[in-house]
Amino acid sequence: MYQVPRGTQDILPGEQFYWRYIEQRAALLCQLYGYERIDTPTFEETQLFSRSVGEATDIVAKEMYTFKDKGGNELTLKPEGTAPVCRAYIEHGLHNRPQPVKLYYLATTFRYERPQAGRYRQHHQFGYEAIGDDDPALDGEVIDLAWQFLKSCGLSKLKLELNSIGCRKCRPGYMASLKEYYSGYASTLCPDCKIRLERNPLRLLDCKNPLCQKLEASAPRSIDFLCPECADHFRQLGRYLELLGLTFSENHRLVRGLDYYTRTVFEIQPEADGAQSTLGGGGRYDDLIEELGGRPTPALGFAAGLERIILNLKKERAPVPALPKPPVFIAHIGKAAKDEAVKLAAGLRRGGIGVTGALGSRSLKAQLRQANSLDARYTIIIGDEEVKSGRVILRDMTTSEQKTVSPGELEGLLRQLASKTSPQS
Ligand code: HAM
Repeated sequence: MYQVPRGTQDILPGEQFYWRYIEQRAALLCQLYGYERIDTPTFEETQLFSRSVGEATDIVAKEMYTFKDKGGNELTLKPEGTAPVCRAYIEHGLHNRPQPVKLYYLATTFRYERPQAGRYRQHHQFGYEAIGDDDPALDGEVIDLAWQFLKSCGLSKLKLELNSIGCRKCRPGYMASLKEYYSGYASTLCPDCKIRLERNPLRLLDCKNPLCQKLEASAPRSIDFLCPECADHFRQLGRYLELLGLTFSENHRLVRGLDYYTRTVFEIQPEADGAQSTLGGGGRYDDLIEELGGRPTPALGFAAGLERIILNLKKERAPVPALPKPPVFIAHIGKAAKDEAVKLAAGLRRGGIGVTGALGSRSLKAQLRQANSLDARYTIIIGDEEVKSGRVILRDMTTSEQKTVSPGELEGLLRQLASKTSPQS
């Protein structure tokens, strides 16, 4: 027997309503905040990610699905969406449009991680990027959108954590201090952290090893090393968040697991579980576009994992609307009636009314059972008598009332129904 690859999952029809709902919320909120959709390829040149996300990050060092195609090109299934969007921004000259350019995506992302609840090797992200402005008011708006999106999905138990990790000017001072602090414990560090200490001391703060995590509590804080401009940016952001009515806590050891960040970093977590099950995170990356070959362009963004949102919707028992189903079921008894049923179903569908129907030649009782299990609002019953008279029986599945109706009456009734239950776009 074949099974799904480890760390991936099938999304069966019974779960689809969660996915469609979240995607609709994402599209609606993005429209409210002025973001346009962008889709980038599922794979990119490997270098795009190693240069942007960073060689010393877990994502690049351990988790990428990298392969050579038949033409010898080094490609990687995208582990995240920011670098591809920046590549597209540069490639298509989007700096010529009014700035900031605001783009959102719903994308499948791949990371070779150890699977556990809420952590998969293939996951799905809703993300967005606001490119071309360094105003802290934009940081406030980006964080507000993240918060409002998760709230509008139905999540209520959330917390927002915020930090600033400085810029090219002030970061080196912080890095040196981190290096000095951790060097004092070099012998107790896990093997990965020994490498991190040499390559990028900031990454020591995301280590999941309990021994290394203990050291984090007394590690130097990025906030104490900010240059006056970064400190002012952070202060102003705090003011904008207050204006927006968002409550946040400052976590001065929050650095995020990707190298491209500068200044603002933030995460939204479930109140109870904390960082292990972060719903979404983001921040500024003011140097990234330049590092990828574009002009100096400040930017920031956010991404949330759909699987984690669904997990938390289930935990919080948040109400999520079901997807509409065809409201009409057609049952038939006999061969001649079956032909009528096939024609009637086609006619109704062409008229915009969703119909399912029984195939084969099962008993009426079995067909009604099927209609019930499909949640049909009405069942149309056609037998020999109805074929002769041209009329059909219409059964209201909620009240079990039945009446014989002419084709004209049926059409009027169902047209009313169609206007109430048009399929979701
Ligand atoms: P990230 O924190 O690496 O950020 O991922 C964003 C979200 O994707 C996480 O908060 C989590 O909900 C979800 N996620 C990540 N890995 C997995 C996994 N293995 N299984 C399930 N869910 C996962 C980024 O990717 C940045 N590109 C976000 C960003 C956008 N920063 C600026 N703009």
